[in-house]
Amino acid sequence: MNPVLINLVSDPKLEARLQDKLQAEQGKIELRRFPDEETYLRVLSDCSDRDVVILCNLYQPDNKLLRLILLADTLREMGANKVGLVTPYLAYMRQDKRFHDGECVSSRPFAKLISQHLDFMVTVDPHLHRYNSLDEIYSIPSTLVHAAPLIADWIQQHIKKPLLIGPDSESEQWVSEVAKLAGAPFQVLSKIRRGDYDVEVTLPEIERWRDHTPVLVDDIISSGRTMLETIAHLDQAGMPKTTCIAVHGIFAGDAYDRLKAVSDVATTGCIIHPSNQIEISEAVAKAIQKHLTE
Ligand code: R5P
Repeated sequence: MNPVLINLVSDPKLEARLQDKLQAEQGKIELRRFPDEETYLRVLSDCSDRDVVILCNLYQPDNKLLRLILLADTLREMGANKVGLVTPYLAYMRQDKRFHDGECVSSRPFAKLISQHLDFMVTVDPHLHRYNSLDEIYSIPSTLVHAAPLIADWIQQHIKKPLLIGPDSESEQWVSEVAKLAGAPFQVLSKIRRGDYDVEVTLPEIERWRDHTPVLVDDIISSGRTMLETIAHLDQAGMPKTTCIAVHGIFAGDAYDRLKAVSDVATTGCIIHPSNQIEISEAVAKAIQKHLTE
C-alpha cells in the first residue's frame, strides 16, 4: 500500500513534490493550541497498517520537537507500520563537544529523543564534524542525502570558470566533492571563530585564478560572518563578484541582506528561503523509498 505523507509545519512545495514522487497519500492532521498554549493534535487519516512519513523540518526545532513526538506516538497507537522522519535540516549537530565545563552536548540528547520515537530518518548533509556518522548518536537507521552532486550541477549550469573555495577545514568534505563533480579547481581556507559573530578567515590564494569566479561553498550559512569575511578578502584582491552557496541557508538576523549586498547567493531547498535555487526533492524521495522498501 502507498505510504502516507504528513506535513508537520514544513515546506508545502517540498511536500507536494515528495507526495508526487512517492505516490503517497496526503495525511491529514488537526493541529492547534489549547488556550493554555499546550498542543492539540489529532490524526484525521487512517494510518493503521500504513507506513507513514512525517515531513518535519527541524530547523528552529525547539517548538517543533514536541509536536513531532506527539504525532509519532499517536500514529503508533493508531497501528501505523513504520513511522519515519524527513528533516532536510538536522538541528543540534553543531554542539558536538563540551567546549566548557557544564555545557550540554545537545546533539546527543536530541538524537536520543528522535531515536526513541521514530523508526528511520532521512536528512540532507547534516553537520558531521566531530562525529563520523549519525550512527554514533542516532540508534535508528538514517540516510544522508548528499547535496554535492546537486550543487555541482547547479554550478555547471550557472557559473563560468568557477574557483571553488571552502572557508574552513570543516567545509572541505563538501567543497572537494563539489569541485570533483563540477570539474573545477578548489581551495580550502582556515578559520578561527572567536564568537558567534567574530570569525577570522585566512587569505585565499588567488594569483593563478584571477579570471575565475569565486564560489564559496559551505554546509551552513548562519550569521553569514564566515562568508562575509572571505568575500572581503576576495573583493580586496579585486576578484570578480563572489557566489555563495550553502546547503542550509539559516541566515540569522541580517545575514542575507549583508550577503546579498556583496555577492550572489544560492542555497538548496533544505530551508525555505528566497535564495533557494537547488532542488532536493528527487534525491530526498529516493532516500525515503529505500527505507520504505527495506
Ligand atoms: C562551521 O561550523 C560551518 O560549516 C559553517 O561554516 C558555519 O556554521 C557558518 O556559520 P556563520 O554563518 O555563522 O559564520
